[in-house]
Amino acid sequence: MTDLASPNSPSDAVGLPARAAALDLLTAALGGRAGMDEGLSHPALAALDGRDRAFARALVMATLRHLGPIDAALQAKVKKAPPDKVVHILRLGVAQAFLLKTPAHAAVATSVDLVAQDKGLQMFKGLVNAVLRGLVREPPELADPDLLAPSWLYARWRAAFGAEEARQIAAMIAQEPATDLSLKDPAAAAPLAAELEAQVLPGGTLRTLKRGDLATWPQFAEGAWWVQDASAAIPARLLAVQPGQTALDMCAAPGGKTLQLAAAGATVTALDRSPPRLKRVSENLARTGLSAEVIAADAANWPDRRTFDAVLLDAPCSATGTFRRHPDVLWAAKPSDVAGLAAVQSKLLDAAARRTKSGGRLVYCVCSLEPEEGEGQVAAFLGRTPGVTLDPIGDGEGGAPSASRKADGTLRILPHHAEGGMDGFYMARFRKA
Ligand SMILES: C[S@@+](CC[C@H](N)C(=O)[O-])C[C@H]1O[C@@H](n2cnc3c(N)ncnc32)[C@H](O)[C@@H]1O
Repeated sequence: MTDLASPNSPSDAVGLPARAAALDLLTAALGGRAGMDEGLSHPALAALDGRDRAFARALVMATLRHLGPIDAALQAKVKKAPPDKVVHILRLGVAQAFLLKTPAHAAVATSVDLVAQDKGLQMFKGLVNAVLRGLVREPPELADPDLLAPSWLYARWRAAFGAEEARQIAAMIAQEPATDLSLKDPAAAAPLAAELEAQVLPGGTLRTLKRGDLATWPQFAEGAWWVQDASAAIPARLLAVQPGQTALDMCAAPGGKTLQLAAAGATVTALDRSPPRLKRVSENLARTGLSAEVIAADAANWPDRRTFDAVLLDAPCSATGTFRRHPDVLWAAKPSDVAGLAAVQSKLLDAAARRTKSGGRLVYCVCSLEPEEGEGQVAAFLGRTPGVTLDPIGDGEGGAPSASRKADGTLRILPHHAEGGMDGFYMARFRKA
């Protein structure tokens, strides 16, 4: 989700309904994996005007980006945990006072008002008032990297990448990302960069600090670009498809990589098992004037016998690498998710190998920081799949930062590998004999 308001919005001018909507959204975001998406379609948010809606979203994003340190600050002040709703109100109060620069009196008063709106919570008005006033007197440290990630994930990152890298990964959680765009016509990068106040990154992604409704930005309606993180744009480039080659995007929705393959001139088949998500692929194709065959199917059991010159498997994963835009993933993920998803990924990789023509290329990627979904997956796949070998990715290929290239020619992109950040990903390219 792109934040629509900067953390410095004039939040003291925003009323209680925006804060109530933020409370609904935070409750949804912390309520499960699809929570944030469901929360964004909540009627309370839809009923707000543009400025209030932007405030509510920015407040929730700031809260989620600093949730660990916010909770540590609250735990130091609250002896016995109050009901979840009161905890959420306190979290939002802290975020307003210290991250959105809401005047302290307004952050405290509106938080007490939110509690007062619920008849069952009247007895917590005093607690909310006292805790927030106490924090205003002694402002907490909200950007300590050692507190920014859930402790179980942070422990995993320390084990996988070492203490210093894990700290640098975690420090990125607090940073609001820029918006990255992929272009239909890479040759138009310079003029589009000027129009969109963007810089051109290695690989051709445009990065802009513009905010607000994307649909009003230059050349959106014309379909000249689509939103796609700089890391997410690399896998399709690694396939280097030539005009007229066939390409299969096995888990395609919402379609960023399908658009790249189609824009490069390939004849693309886009599979996904989710019809609602595929609708977004079709909408994106229509807006950009690109074409692809769009099919709803389980890619592991697709009853079609075709093979393709290029196959892209952007597999379903824990998505822990996407926390810069989706900080809710960190708090919704559970330790058991990783093993379950790894089993799905290995079935899909086997199917991807079957779909790749002899002499063809296969790219596997996941927007996850967890080794079981990346390095472990690839080692096991190579071990059980004769005739498939790693096709090492060259230094800087596709715009990947040099720091991400591993000795075996796979990529482990960490969020701090580029100035301003990029999503965490693992990518490997294979060749079929
Ligand atoms: C990481 S997202 C893909 C993002 C997409 N490649 C893009 O660049 O816009 C993973 C996708 O896998 C789809 N998916 C999950 N299991 C699948 C399966 N067995 N077959 C096909 N698609 C699947 C999900 O619906 C989801 O859209």
